[in-house]
Amino acid sequence: MPATLVVGAQWGDEGKGKVIDVLTAEADVVVRYQGGSNAGHTVVVGAETYVLHLIPSGMLYPGKMNVIGNGVVVDPARLVEEIDTFKARGIDVESRLLLSDLAHVTLPYHKRLDEAREAKRGSDKIGTTHQGIGPTYSDKYGRVGIKVGDLADEADFTEKVRRNLEEKNAFFREYYHAPEMSMEEVLGPYRAYWPRLKGLVRNTIPYLRDELKAGKRILLEGAQGTLLDVDFGTYPYVSASHPTAGGSSAGSGIPPRAIVRVVGVVKAYTTRVGAGPLPTELPAEEQERLRMVGREYGATTGRARRCGWFDAVVVRRAVDVNGLTEVAVTKLDILDHLDEVPVCVAYRYRGQELTEFPTRTEVVAECEPVYRMLPGWKSPTSGIRRWADLPANAKGYIETLQSLMGVTVSIVSIGPRRDEIIRV
Ligand code: IMP
Repeated sequence: MPATLVVGAQWGDEGKGKVIDVLTAEADVVVRYQGGSNAGHTVVVGAETYVLHLIPSGMLYPGKMNVIGNGVVVDPARLVEEIDTFKARGIDVESRLLLSDLAHVTLPYHKRLDEAREAKRGSDKIGTTHQGIGPTYSDKYGRVGIKVGDLADEADFTEKVRRNLEEKNAFFREYYHAPEMSMEEVLGPYRAYWPRLKGLVRNTIPYLRDELKAGKRILLEGAQGTLLDVDFGTYPYVSASHPTAGGSSAGSGIPPRAIVRVVGVVKAYTTRVGAGPLPTELPAEEQERLRMVGREYGATTGRARRCGWFDAVVVRRAVDVNGLTEVAVTKLDILDHLDEVPVCVAYRYRGQELTEFPTRTEVVAECEPVYRMLPGWKSPTSGIRRWADLPANAKGYIETLQSLMGVTVSIVSIGPRRDEIIRV
């Protein structure tokens, strides 16, 4: 059975948690393939709200299996905490969660390095989530990383930590003027985490191969978004992984040709957390209004999200690099009150009109949006369940996005709950 992929088509926080939750009903196994506890996928089930950081969203459906793939960076402290939070809410996690032995481990020195690097950048901060994501991936690609599988051999794990800590402490001491870390600070808590996690650890490559062969339906869950991809995003104001379609195969071991359906998730407007260009960013007061209506605060850090109008130049970049086969538009209801809804169709850069997202972040930072104004619908949409019942101008808005993106919209979300969805 072919696999389905869900990717963020903007700067993260597009509402992927909700869309993944809806698509999980049609899946057997949900797989996370990149990022780590920087992610925060919010899912509302009945009266309960869940925010998932490392655990795949399929955990909220009884009977579905969940895999943390090799491309994810795993902070054992956060994972154990998340497992306990779910268990306290009556969800049986351990029998439905597998953790790849190839996934790299985030250790306390990665978090301290993340904070120290950010502090050193001064006014040029990236605005990371301080979860140690960049430093963990740096160690992975620098070939000094520690994998989940390494935790099984205490002597080997201890030696790898010793070697890495020697290097990190030299940086803390000499360059960042940050406190050094002792071996005990790093190792102490891990002695308790391993017994908690070892039952979940698996070579997930043959597991997923066999599930595919057996005709099981696999859903790949992207975190962050295309414009936070380390190659395709607004570098250096990006995360350190590949949230895009290419990353889903590398981060799970599922062959690219098995992934035939690629669902891009876009918010009906645009938000981003942290620094970096956001061409459609609104003036402070208008931004605040949209933030209040849309409750635009980070699920992981609680930070206020920056808000702007829908940017078709951004989303076309996502259509191209992910090969989106369909799009889910979320939070349409947040625009219900507007007289007119602007949509960015191109950029103006030093007198030229650009329709391709520029590769240089410095150019993006200078771009001015070119807007097309669309009429608002000025009526509530949250209670609507059928495409035919949407107000004509709301349909017109979605159809305009569709033609600007060049991809069919298959889902419109009009509220946080599972049932607040329109299949187009
Ligand atoms: P990091 O992933 O913590 O290194 O942060 C790098 C950039 O990605 C920052 O601008 C973060 O705000 C952003 N970021 C990381 N994870 C998410 C996410 O799940 N949603 C939205 N933005 C994110």
